[in-house]
Amino acid sequence: MKLKFFPVHLFFVVLVFAAAPVVAQQGQDLDLYLLIGQSNMAGRAPLDDSSKLTDSRILMLDKSNNWVPATDPLHFDKPDVVGVGPGIAFAREILRNSAGRRIGLIPCAVGGSPIRVWEPDSTYLNGLHPYDDAIRRAKIALGRGRLCGIIWHQGESDNNTAGAAVYMEKLKILIRRLRTDLKTPALPFVAGEIGYFAKSTPINQVIDRLPGVVANTAVVSAEGLTDKGDKTHFDTRSARELGRRYGQAMIKLEKGPGGLGIGGVLIQNIFARQEVSLDGRWNYIVDPYENGYYDYRHQPYDQSASGTGGFFDDKKPADRNELVEYNFDLSPTLKVPGDWNSQEDKLLYYEGTVWYRRIFSASPKQGRRYFLYFGAVNYEAHVYLNGKKLGMHKGGFTPFEFEVTGKLKDGDNTIVVKADNTRKKDEIPTVNTDWWNYGGITRDVMLASAPATFISDYKVQLAKDEPGRIEGFVQLDGEGANGGVGSGERNSSGVGGQEVMISIPEAGVHQTVRTDGSGRADVSIPVKKLNYWSPENPHLYAVTLKAGADAINDKIGFRTIQVKGQDILLNGKSVFLRGISIHDENPLIPGRNRGEGDLRMLLNWAKELGCNYIRLAHYPHNETMIRLADEMGLMVWAEVPVYWTISWENADTYANAQKQLTDLITRDKNRAAVIIWSIGNETPISEPRLSFMGRLATQAHTLDNSRLISAALEVHRKGNEAFVDDPLGEKLDLVSFNEYAGWYWGDRLTDLPNYHFTIKYDRPVIITEFGGDALAGFHADAGTKFSEEYQEELYRYQLQMLKGIGALRGMTPWILTDFRSPRRQHPVYQNFWNRKGLISETGQKKKAFFVLKDFYEEIGKKYAQ
Ligand code: GCU
Repeated sequence: MKLKFFPVHLFFVVLVFAAAPVVAQQGQDLDLYLLIGQSNMAGRAPLDDSSKLTDSRILMLDKSNNWVPATDPLHFDKPDVVGVGPGIAFAREILRNSAGRRIGLIPCAVGGSPIRVWEPDSTYLNGLHPYDDAIRRAKIALGRGRLCGIIWHQGESDNNTAGAAVYMEKLKILIRRLRTDLKTPALPFVAGEIGYFAKSTPINQVIDRLPGVVANTAVVSAEGLTDKGDKTHFDTRSARELGRRYGQAMIKLEKGPGGLGIGGVLIQNIFARQEVSLDGRWNYIVDPYENGYYDYRHQPYDQSASGTGGFFDDKKPADRNELVEYNFDLSPTLKVPGDWNSQEDKLLYYEGTVWYRRIFSASPKQGRRYFLYFGAVNYEAHVYLNGKKLGMHKGGFTPFEFEVTGKLKDGDNTIVVKADNTRKKDEIPTVNTDWWNYGGITRDVMLASAPATFISDYKVQLAKDEPGRIEGFVQLDGEGANGGVGSGERNSSGVGGQEVMISIPEAGVHQTVRTDGSGRADVSIPVKKLNYWSPENPHLYAVTLKAGADAINDKIGFRTIQVKGQDILLNGKSVFLRGISIHDENPLIPGRNRGEGDLRMLLNWAKELGCNYIRLAHYPHNETMIRLADEMGLMVWAEVPVYWTISWENADTYANAQKQLTDLITRDKNRAAVIIWSIGNETPISEPRLSFMGRLATQAHTLDNSRLISAALEVHRKGNEAFVDDPLGEKLDLVSFNEYAGWYWGDRLTDLPNYHFTIKYDRPVIITEFGGDALAGFHADAGTKFSEEYQEELYRYQLQMLKGIGALRGMTPWILTDFRSPRRQHPVYQNFWNRKGLISETGQKKKAFFVLKDFYEEIGKKYAQ
C-alpha cells in the first residue's frame, strides 16, 4: 500500500476493519465491476436508512482490499463528504435480471478528477494515482472472480468548450488502455451524462456519441435527475436511479454483441407470444476457416470500424464487376430445427462454423416489442439482423433471445447466424463427451412480440413443502413495470405499482398483486385442497396472468416434492422413481429431435416401459419435452452439461455453467414434472471441483428451493465393496450415482449379488445409470458381451443387487435407446453407436427391456399400496 494514507488514513482503516466483517474467500465466485470517474461516481448524496442495508450477493473491495458486504458510502476518496452513489443500485439492477449471480464492486472513483489524470503514472491531489490505483485494485479483485464491466461517471471537471473538444479522444484512449491493461479486449464500458444542473453541458453531447465511436460501450442519460442543492451532485433518489440505468445498460451490453452472453433473463413461456415461426429451410455455407467472420489478418469483421465485410452482410454483387465470394441465395439449405450432421453426409463428422441465413417478412407495429428467439444453437452462436450484430450466445442446449424492437424492417428482414460447434477445453461441456456433437440450429426459432410493458417472467408453484400455499412472483418489463413506484423502493402498502391479476378459475383463485419499484410483485396465495399433479394424475390448471395491456395463459400443475429420511415424498406420499435415461436424440433419424412427434415417441416408449420418471441426460432438453412430461405424467431429472473433467478453476467456465443452470431453472420452473435439478455428471473429486460444484448447488437452491438438487456422484470400489462418500454429496438432497457392475467393473454377472454398497449419506438413493451394450438381434449365451442375452442377464442381476440398498428410491438405467457416440468404435457391435439402449436405433425392443418392465410393474404395485 502507498504511504500517502499514513496518519489520518491509518485511523480510518482501523475503523473500517472494525465496522465491516471481512467475507471469507470462496474461490472465484464474483462478477466484478470497476467503478471509476469523479465525485458523482464516488457518491456525494446524503446517506439514508437504506444505505446500511446489505445483500449477501453484493460485496465491495474496501480500502484495505478486503471484500466486505457492500454499503454506502462505497468509496473512500474523500471520507468527509462521500455518500450515496450509483454503485449499489447498479448491482441490484444486475441481480434483478440474474438473481443467481454474486457481484463484486471495485470502487475507485476520485472526486474532482479531470479525465487527463486518468492515465498511467499520473498523480492527482496529494499523491493519488486514479488510473494506476484502479488497475492495481482491479488486479487484486481478479483473485475473486472475473471482470464483467466498467462504469464511468466523469465530466463535470471537463464540462467546458476546451475540455469537450478533446474529451472523446481522451475517452477512447482511456477505454482502450483499460481493456488492454485488464486483458479483456471487449470489456463492456458504460459512461453516464453529467447532471443537467449547470447552465450548459457541452460535455454531454460528446459523451452521448461514445457508442457510435467505441464498440461495446453505452451511455446512460441524466434526464429527469435532480441535484442535492449544489448544482453538481445528484441527490440520493437520483444517484440510485442513475445506478439502475447503469445496470440496465450493462445488462444490454453483456447480452449484446461483444458481451459475454451472460446477462438478461429469458422471457417466460415465450411460445405463447409467437408472432412468426422461423422454422423451415435456411440457406447455409460451411466455413471451416471462419472466412466469413475474420479478415485475412484474423480480425473480426463485426468489430472493425465499419462493422461490415463478413458473411453477415448477405452481400450481392452490385454488378458483374463486383467481387463477392459467397452467395446465400445460391447456397443449399438445411432444415431448422435440425442438426447439420444428420442432414448432409459430408457434415456427419463436421465440427466448426456453418453460416445460416433466413429471410422473413415482418410488419412491426408501433407500441409493440419484438424478440428474436432461439430454442438452442450448438455451441457458439453469433446472430445478425439486417447486417447488424444482435449478439452472441454460448451453450448448445439453452434458449436465448434478442430484443429487436426498432430493428425490424416493415417487409423483408434477413437473419444470419454463425453457428460453431468446435469443442474447447474451458467450455461447458468440455472436449470429451460420450454423445455426438451435433451442430447447428437444433431447436425452434421464432419472432415473438409483446406489449410495451409485459409479463417477462413469473413463477406460480406451491411453496416448499406447503400443499396449501402458492408462492412465486410476477416480473414486468417495460416503462410501466413499476407503475411509477421509484427504484429500490419496496411496495409494502399496496398503493402505487402496476396491478397484476393471477387467475386459476378451476381452483377459485383470482388474486391481485402490485409490482414494486423494480416491476416485480411477489405472490403468496393460500389455496384449498388442489387436484395435485402426479404421474397417475398429471392434472394441469389453466392459469392466466394479466397486467395492463398484457395477458398470458399457461398450463401449470401443482405438487410438492420433498425428502424425508430415506424417502422421497410426492404430495406427502413415498414414491419410487421408475425411470430411464434419455438423450435428446431420435435414433430413427439419427439426429437431434426435431419436433413434438420425435419427443412423444421417446416418452411413449418410456411409458410403455412402466416409467413414472425420466432422466434427461446430460444437458437441458427441449422445452416441449418438459411440457410433454407435464402432460403425460413423467417426473423429470433435468441436468446441465457439467460432465466429466471441467476446467474447475477457470472463472469463465464457472460463469458459463452458472448461466446454463440459471437458464434451465428459469425456463422450466413452472413445470410440475421437474422434481430434480442436476448440477452435473461423474465429475472427478478435487478441492477446486468441490468449490465449483458447491457453488452451483448453492445457486440452484437460491433460485429454486421447492425442488431437489442432485448430481451423479463418484463411486469407488475395493473388491465387492463399493463406497459412496463423495464430499459433494454433503451439499445435495439425494445420493445419486452411476454404477457399471457387470460391464465396466469387469466382474462376472454372478458376482453382482455379492456386492455391498457403503453409502455415507442417510438420504434417498437414486441410481442414475447402470447398463451394458447389446447389439439388437445379436443372440448368444448370457456370458457373451454385446449379446441381448448378456444385457438381459445383466439387468436381472443388477436389479437383484440394487434391491440390497435399503434407501433405494429410484433409478434411471442407461439408457432408453441406442445413441450415436464418437467414442464407440467397435466395427461390428458399435460402429459409432453406444448400444446400451433397451431399444435399438431402428426402434426394436431388446430382451432387457422386458426385464425392466416387469420390475417396474412389481415395484409400482408395492408403492401403490
Ligand atoms: C457414463 C456417462 C454416460 C455414458 C455412459 C456409458 O457413465 O455418464 O454419458 O454414455 O457412462 O459409458 O455408456
